[in-house]
Amino acid sequence: MKTLMKTGALLASAVSLAILSGCEGVNARQEESFKGKLSAVSETAVAAKSSTKGVAPLAPLPDSPPIPPDNKQSDAKVELGKLLFFDPRLGGDASISCSSCHDPAQGWAWAEDLSRGYPGTVHWRNSQSIINSGHYPGSFWANSVPSLEAQAPSAAKGGVAGNGENDIMTARLTLIPEYRKRFKEVFGDDYPRIKNAWRAIAAFERTLNQTDTPLDRYLKGDKNALTDEQLRGKALFEGKAGCIQCHNGPLASNMEFYNIGVPPSQRWEEDGLAQITFRFEMYAKGSNEELYRTAKADPGAYFRGKNKWDLGKFRTPSLRYTLYTAPYMHNGAFYTLEEVVDFYDRGGFDEEGRTTGWPKTKSNLIKPLGLTDDEKTDLVAFLEAFSGEEILMDKPVLPEYAPLFTLEELKEAKK
Ligand code: HEC
Ligand code: HEC
Repeated sequence: MKTLMKTGALLASAVSLAILSGCEGVNARQEESFKGKLSAVSETAVAAKSSTKGVAPLAPLPDSPPIPPDNKQSDAKVELGKLLFFDPRLGGDASISCSSCHDPAQGWAWAEDLSRGYPGTVHWRNSQSIINSGHYPGSFWANSVPSLEAQAPSAAKGGVAGNGENDIMTARLTLIPEYRKRFKEVFGDDYPRIKNAWRAIAAFERTLNQTDTPLDRYLKGDKNALTDEQLRGKALFEGKAGCIQCHNGPLASNMEFYNIGVPPSQRWEEDGLAQITFRFEMYAKGSNEELYRTAKADPGAYFRGKNKWDLGKFRTPSLRYTLYTAPYMHNGAFYTLEEVVDFYDRGGFDEEGRTTGWPKTKSNLIKPLGLTDDEKTDLVAFLEAFSGEEILMDKPVLPEYAPLFTLEELKEAKK
């Protein structure tokens, strides 16, 4: 069965990624191997961790993300990747494309707490924006996939996302003359190879960056780029509110894992479909029987190495482009940046006093901040400086199917 195959693959990746266990209080050797793995992929993000003893300063984002030597960028490849990103035929029932859950008009994400899922499901996590995703050393809320090339198939094939099968997706591409031509041009394929579809999509994603934000302009020397309110917010961010401890460096993320107290999704208590997906994902990710039956909250980074101390931890997300990517957190618990700031101000509790389902691993860096209303306003204003203009894009016209052989050729073949 498909699920079983998937379980195997996910288990394998969970094992190979177990060494990435970067977390608070982790020993130095693990920390080093985490950095080693990072530097292989992204210099950008490493700068966030290693440039100071304590905390790296906020920094401008480089214009281009690191490009892997075995998947160089070219205009033709990016153009092909763009078509494929918007093409629902790279999925199970040809109804759902990458852009369905990463909609340019919804911050290149999906504007609901839990993402929409494959027809008949809801996803179990909040959809992430893919803006700047090329700068990350890994993908997903738990950083569980090491590259965009590896991420794309896991999305197109994952049971609650694209739910596609390689053979049918390859057959579809092959029956589209325009794709045959483009794969030949870009990769030299006589017939499209599915692996190259993922490489083209990754190349397209690496063009979706935002480096022109008020904060970047300020950090590059334009002292008028931030308003007075935002400057006061910046001082709070770096001082009293302590955000910089985790949101630092060019991405405003140290790429570490924390449980900051986000309460479990309320849809897991109320919405049958969401409960089904949650249990399904627990099983697919290789949880033990007990966790499968009893867990009430997302174990997060736990699945990377099955370490209890990782329960409920998630990768510090970038704060870039968040003006357009509400709702926030791995399960979309908060709908506005104001709510997020209130949550931190209360020491990691929502307005009903709810907090993480894994209290033992909650970070001791998260504590009540005692911010005044004015300070909260300033902080929110500063968070808005991490975003520039909205990046919009029209859906391209997708190429059409055509028979692979003419009737004459088929008749000829039968003789
Ligand atoms: C059904 C909805 C859905 C579809 C379809 C989908 N995604 Fe996603 N995507 C998500 C969700 C939800 C997450 C976060 C998942 C997690 O952390 O477990 C995500 C995460 C990502 C990330 C990680 C970003 C980061 O900050 O780490 C990338 C990159 C991405 N998707 C690209 C794609 C591509 C490429 C496709 C098409 C091949 C695709 N997605 C299809 C919902 C979807
Ligand atoms: C201990 C590390 C840490 C500190 C300190 C911290 N954050 Fe976070 N932040 C995180 C993590 C981890 C997440 C994701 C948590 C989750 O989804 O469960 C997050 C999520 C966010 C998000 C949501 C981003 C998105 O795309 O959904 C915003 C906004 C944010 N933090 C702002 C702040 C602000 C403002 C402060 C200071 C008041 C702050 N953070 C302090 C680690 C931290």
